[in-house]
Amino acid sequence: MAHTVGGCSLALIFIIVLLLVKANIDACKRGDVTVEPSHVISLGSAVNISCSLKPEQGCPQYSSLNRLILYKVNEKINLLHGHFLSSQVTDLPLGTTVFFCKLACSKKKELRICGAEISVGVVPEQPQNLSCIQKGERGTVNCTWDRGRDTHLYTTYTLQLNGPKNLTWQKQCNGHYCDHLDLGVNLIPELPESSYTAKVTATNRLGNASSFPSTFTFWDIVRPLPPCDIRIKCVNASVSRCILQWSDEGLVLLNRLRYRPNSSWSWKMVSATNVKGRHDLLDLKPFTEYEFQISSKLHLYKGSWSDWSESLRTQTPEEEPTGTLDVWYMKQHIDYSRQQISLFWKNMSLSEARGKILHYRVTLQEVAGGKVTLQNITEHTSWTWVIPRTGNWVVTVSAANSKGSSLPTRINITDLLGPGLPAPRQVSANSKGVDNIMVTWEPPGKAAPAVQEYVVEWRELHPRGGTQPPLNWLRTTPYNVSALISENIKPYSCYEISVYALSGDQRGGSSIRANSKHKAPLSGPHINAISEEKGSVLISWNEVPAQEQMGCLLHYRIYWKEQDSNSQPQLCEIPYRVSLNSHSIDSLQPRVTYVLWMTALTAAGESPPGNKREFCLEGYLFFFRPSDLSGVVKKFQTQRTAPGPRNIPSWRRRRSCPWTGS
Ligand SMILES: *[C@@H]1O[C@H](CO)[C@@H](O)[C@H](O)[C@H]1NC(C)=O
Ligand SMILES: *[C@@H]1O[C@H](CO)[C@@H](O)[C@H](O)[C@H]1NC(C)=O
Ligand SMILES: *[C@@H]1O[C@H](CO)[C@@H](O)[C@H](O)[C@H]1NC(C)=O
Ligand SMILES: *[C@@H]1O[C@H](CO)[C@@H](O)[C@H](O)[C@H]1NC(C)=O
Ligand SMILES: *[C@@H]1O[C@H](CO)[C@@H](O)[C@H](O)[C@H]1NC(C)=O
Ligand SMILES: *[C@@H]1O[C@H](CO)[C@@H](O)[C@H](O)[C@H]1NC(C)=O
Ligand SMILES: *[C@@H]1O[C@H](CO)[C@@H](O)[C@H](O)[C@H]1NC(C)=O
Ligand SMILES: *[C@@H]1O[C@H](CO)[C@@H](O)[C@H](O)[C@H]1NC(C)=O
Ligand SMILES: *[C@@H]1O[C@H](CO)[C@@H](O)[C@H](O)[C@H]1NC(C)=O
Ligand SMILES: *[C@@H]1O[C@H](CO)[C@@H](O)[C@H](O)[C@H]1NC(C)=O
Ligand SMILES: *[C@@H]1O[C@H](CO)[C@@H](O)[C@H](O)[C@H]1NC(C)=O
Repeated sequence: MAHTVGGCSLALIFIIVLLLVKANIDACKRGDVTVEPSHVISLGSAVNISCSLKPEQGCPQYSSLNRLILYKVNEKINLLHGHFLSSQVTDLPLGTTVFFCKLACSKKKELRICGAEISVGVVPEQPQNLSCIQKGERGTVNCTWDRGRDTHLYTTYTLQLNGPKNLTWQKQCNGHYCDHLDLGVNLIPELPESSYTAKVTATNRLGNASSFPSTFTFWDIVRPLPPCDIRIKCVNASVSRCILQWSDEGLVLLNRLRYRPNSSWSWKMVSATNVKGRHDLLDLKPFTEYEFQISSKLHLYKGSWSDWSESLRTQTPEEEPTGTLDVWYMKQHIDYSRQQISLFWKNMSLSEARGKILHYRVTLQEVAGGKVTLQNITEHTSWTWVIPRTGNWVVTVSAANSKGSSLPTRINITDLLGPGLPAPRQVSANSKGVDNIMVTWEPPGKAAPAVQEYVVEWRELHPRGGTQPPLNWLRTTPYNVSALISENIKPYSCYEISVYALSGDQRGGSSIRANSKHKAPLSGPHINAISEEKGSVLISWNEVPAQEQMGCLLHYRIYWKEQDSNSQPQLCEIPYRVSLNSHSIDSLQPRVTYVLWMTALTAAGESPPGNKREFCLEGYLFFFRPSDLSGVVKKFQTQRTAPGPRNIPSWRRRRSCPWTGS
């Protein structure tokens, strides 16, 4: 099948070619078009185009009807009765223009006699900037040049190289973009000072032009191949001395090295002369990914640098960490004799860690005893232990990588029962946008001159998801009484912020709650129980879920009103405290059914009401037990003496609690 198609298409091509040839012959069967002085002319010159009709090829009826028409592309430029027509044409544009001569015997029919193409161009300009290089000692001579303006004509370029002993090499190229040629000739290092001369000549039908000759030696044009096989070795696995090695071509004299940490854009450059593929680097940073490149050159001031080698990327070895950890701690009472110490520290910066931190070493020691009571290793950045509340303790924390440990950070944990430092005063916090809070305070009065440092500490009060929130802190100088905190600050969350003044081993701190962005809570507290307790009503509730608080809660409100009454509800407002979840009110009248509900407030406003609960306070007289009696009588007496309708003894009211059925 494929074969048939192949044969078929071959036959088709053959027929088309035949037809084309025939058409061409047919086209000039009736006569000729001649061009004087040439089919190729230079821009601005004139040509004469002549058309002659062969005998017996005129109009069939009367030869007097013969009319010759000359077309320039599609435009009639001349018309004449007879056998011969000649036109002088000027101002032809650059490029090729087609002319046709036709015979018209009637108004309708024109017969084609013949055509001609005329090309207009310019003489080549002198090729400029001829330069030759040989890539590598075994490479070949490759020359490039600028051709100058387009000639619009078929132009050939001939490159000729003349060497010592009358040796000559020559190569030619043509076409539109002929601006370089590789001669395929290798200059050898055995005659490095021999002089060679290259020249390029551009030629077309209008003339020729040769470049200035370019004269050079082996040293001038050989551009070495880039170094290869680059490797680095650090002595004793330490960055204090790393040796970079590579392979170069035989005659290389000079090298340039450049290197940079992969985090940087700018290179550091080093030059080296006659180092035979080896250079010591003494200034590398440890535990850093570096990129190295090298290039080379044969001669001090002749020739050119090689391309940069391929990059060597490698990580330098680790070194012992420098610097010390930033450690902070929290103390919490467990009971009268014990306290829990929680230590927190920050990750070291890469430049301090100088390696991968494998673990942290924590020691705890009682100063009086002098012996280490505890030593442990952790991979986490916090550590908790329980110690007595008395005595002075020293904690140290250091970070270790494969090469060693940082200097330990020491913290003295002093007797909690001893005198502390006065706390900073007037601590306040203001939202600064969505995730920043500005904390300001005043120095702790008379103790101010002793302050060596302030620490601002913050942590989310009710973390969502219930995980232990990170403890954050920053340190300021004693002259700074404000700090902008932003790390781990989210909008619509409440933070406990403490400011500590530190002086030696002493510290004193005060805390506030603050949020960045806030709005009214999304829901009110859920009342989970209402009970009667000694004549008052005790209301207990579940805290508003953390994700619905939308900032720091400031108040709770308890509302109540008589069931089925249209009166305004009464309310009482209680300031928010952490873990406050019950409150008693004594303004409810016994044997009246009330509806109660609660809301929560942030500085931005009040939540919608939580669930509604009905409650009816029983009368005292019907429900006392002997053990309750004294309290009830006392309460009754005080109620009787107090004025106002709420003191009407309960048994005189005729309404009863619906569920007692009395
Ligand atoms: C064209 O023909 C005219 C008249 O025959 C002649 O004077 C002129 O020199 C010719 N020009 C060229 C470019 O041949
Ligand atoms: C030749 O090279 C020089 C320097 O590189 C350049 O300024 C000039 O334009 C070049 N000439 C041509 C014709 O391109
Ligand atoms: C010669 O140089 C030109 C221009 O730099 C380049 O395009 C060409 O590939 C080179 N030829 C050879 C054989 O290297
Ligand atoms: C080089 O050619 C010139 C003239 O063409 C001649 O005089 C000379 O002897 C030749 N030199 C060598 C080394 O062939
Ligand atoms: C270049 O043109 C000149 C005259 O214009 C001629 O003598 C010479 O032979 C030509 N050279 C080449 C290489 O065509
Ligand atoms: C490498 O270590 C050996 C033995 O630990 C020591 O003798 C030598 O001086 C060290 N070399 C360098 C360059 O630190
Ligand atoms: C640098 O290299 C390290 C280790 O290969 C890599 O984790 C880090 O993303 C790199 N940094 C850049 C800027 O490329
Ligand atoms: C501290 O470093 C550890 C391990 O490199 C990492 O898992 C942790 O997220 C870092 N913590 C902070 C706060 O950057
Ligand atoms: C000490 O470390 C061990 C394991 O490394 C761990 O089991 C133990 O709980 C640690 N002790 C303290 C006090 O953290
Ligand atoms: C200390 O005060 C200066 C100037 O008020 C401020 O730029 C800087 O951020 C403060 N330092 C801290 C840790 O807040
Ligand atoms: C901790 O106490 C030791 C003496 O017990 C003292 O030398 C050291 O300066 C104290 N460190 C700090 C940070 O107060």
